[in-house]
Amino acid sequence: MSILVVNKIDEIRNVIKNYRNQGKSVSLVPTMGCLHEGHKSLIKKAHELADITVVSVFVNPIQFCPGEDYDKYPRTLDADKIAAESAGADIIFAPSVNEMYPNMQKFSDLTIVTPPFELTDIMCGKSRVGHFDGVETVVTKLFNIVQPDYACFGKKDIQQLFLIKKMVADLNIPVQIVDCPLVREDSGLALSSRNKYLSEADRIAAVSISKSLSAIKSACESGIKDIKKLLDLCIANLDKKIDLEYLEFVDKNTFKKIDVLNGPIICAIAARIGAVRLIDNIELEV
Ligand code: PAF
Repeated sequence: MSILVVNKIDEIRNVIKNYRNQGKSVSLVPTMGCLHEGHKSLIKKAHELADITVVSVFVNPIQFCPGEDYDKYPRTLDADKIAAESAGADIIFAPSVNEMYPNMQKFSDLTIVTPPFELTDIMCGKSRVGHFDGVETVVTKLFNIVQPDYACFGKKDIQQLFLIKKMVADLNIPVQIVDCPLVREDSGLALSSRNKYLSEADRIAAVSISKSLSAIKSACESGIKDIKKLLDLCIANLDKKIDLEYLEFVDKNTFKKIDVLNGPIICAIAARIGAVRLIDNIELEV
């Protein structure tokens, strides 16, 4: 059976309803397409968990800030069908913008799901103001449309994962969020659809992002706990082509920013090579 591509909300609801009537469980992997091995690992996990795996492919306009890459974000549905099917997906849900946001003229026309300010006034939420409102709104809509038993998200977008888990708990959404490991190239570079924008030289420079996180981890393991020293170490390890946007340390369980390294911690970075913005993170046990 080849993968089914559905563009309409009514149709995906009917397809899922038929499977539900047969007693089948459903998993969802929300994506913006341009699928790579990282997405494929999520799809494989989703396929293991449930009878039917749905992959949504939707470049969500309301999670891009003004001046970001919404228009040029890679749209590769034909290749995505092949990648999703090879990883075990049964259905691609690829709605149009008008299907998801009918007659939307502007963002303020919509009902929005907004995460708590203090959890978005850090890391990506701070530099991409409103981004997580857009993410939580579209993810809520996808959950309402597909009504999956499981939804798989990658740890590369660690703040997104934390906020989605909180949203699901706070709003009593009946879905189990499954966190999946961050996938890296052999070089250490975290897989991202935005890696497509990198030239060969940029890609070599980008590897220094994960190298700087590894250097921080080794330094912590050898007893260095001073955040300023770790920041200097990070900068020293970053390629000269790279502009650091943030390096932040947050408590793994609360996602609050910390000044003193203690307990399980997420060390997260965002950096730019020219116009390309990349993120990565590492877990520290200090
Ligand atoms: O992680 C992503 O690709 C997006 O933020 C998501 C979760 C698919 C929502 O558009």
